[in-house]
Amino acid sequence: MPRSRDVVFPRRERVEDRRKDAGQRKLLDEFFDHGTLLAVSRLVTQGLFDVLDHPISQGKEGGVFRASKGTELRAVKIYRISNTMFRHLPPYALEELRREASARNYGGLIFAWTRREHTILGRLADAGVRVPVPYGHYRNVLVMEYIGNADGAAPRLKDVPIDAPAALYEELVREFGRMIRDAKLVHGDLSPYNTLYHEGRVVVIDVAQSVRTDHPQALGLLERDLTNFSRFLGRLGYDVEPAEFLRAVGGDRLVAPASEA
Ligand SMILES: Nc1ncnc2c1ncn2[C@@H]1O[C@H](COP(=O)(O)OP(=O)(O)OP(=O)(O)O)[C@@H](O)[C@H]1O
Ligand SMILES: [Mg+2]
Repeated sequence: MPRSRDVVFPRRERVEDRRKDAGQRKLLDEFFDHGTLLAVSRLVTQGLFDVLDHPISQGKEGGVFRASKGTELRAVKIYRISNTMFRHLPPYALEELRREASARNYGGLIFAWTRREHTILGRLADAGVRVPVPYGHYRNVLVMEYIGNADGAAPRLKDVPIDAPAALYEELVREFGRMIRDAKLVHGDLSPYNTLYHEGRVVVIDVAQSVRTDHPQALGLLERDLTNFSRFLGRLGYDVEPAEFLRAVGGDRLVAPASEA
């Protein structure tokens, strides 16, 4: 009978859908607690994006999703409301955060961290550093420029075959130099993991732990970042001394804290 087929068929489809999507849904449920869903819906209402398309990357501390606004793609970073993030945060970053945020609970600190990432992205973008342009944030959700194209998000620098490491070095000097001289910020977690490679150029991401160049630990952090990058360049066949890299980006003008001077 046509009537009962009409009723049964869609129901059976729904069950199959449910099975197929169960894994994906479980994954997503972990991110989207009630507050996060409200934050997402508020950002949608504000017109920052229309829909979350799919996850680009998921970690213990949060996830990054591709989103669409009309035909334009955007990236949405969602921090998980839990204390795991603070266990991995370097003490200097936690100190900075506590100075900025009066919040006592994890949620409040995570909101402050999200705001901090937004502010720092803006400051870097204003200085002409290639970073995702920030579009807005609310609670633990940050909306920014999507780095990639319709086929996928841009790969991380560590996963890209580089045939001209000298040119890459020059580009890194330009980008990191702008960060230090113009934005007056030291990233603090620069690595080929936190650098995307898009259309033949680098894009720096994951900036929330950055500090001002006059921070007592700025020089130490910059030296560590550049030492890591020197090693990476060395593996690509381009040898550069960290001290030379530091001079090239203008980091030698950063003042060491008085106790170490
Ligand atoms: N604006 C963006 N456009 C496209 N992809 C992005 C963007 N921002 C982040 N990603 C992707 O999401 C991943 C994680 O982003 P990010 O480093 O900011 O977060 P994280 O919390 O530090 O995560 P992880 O611990 O994996 O590094 C990146 O490695 C990159 O693949
Ligand atoms: Mg990262």
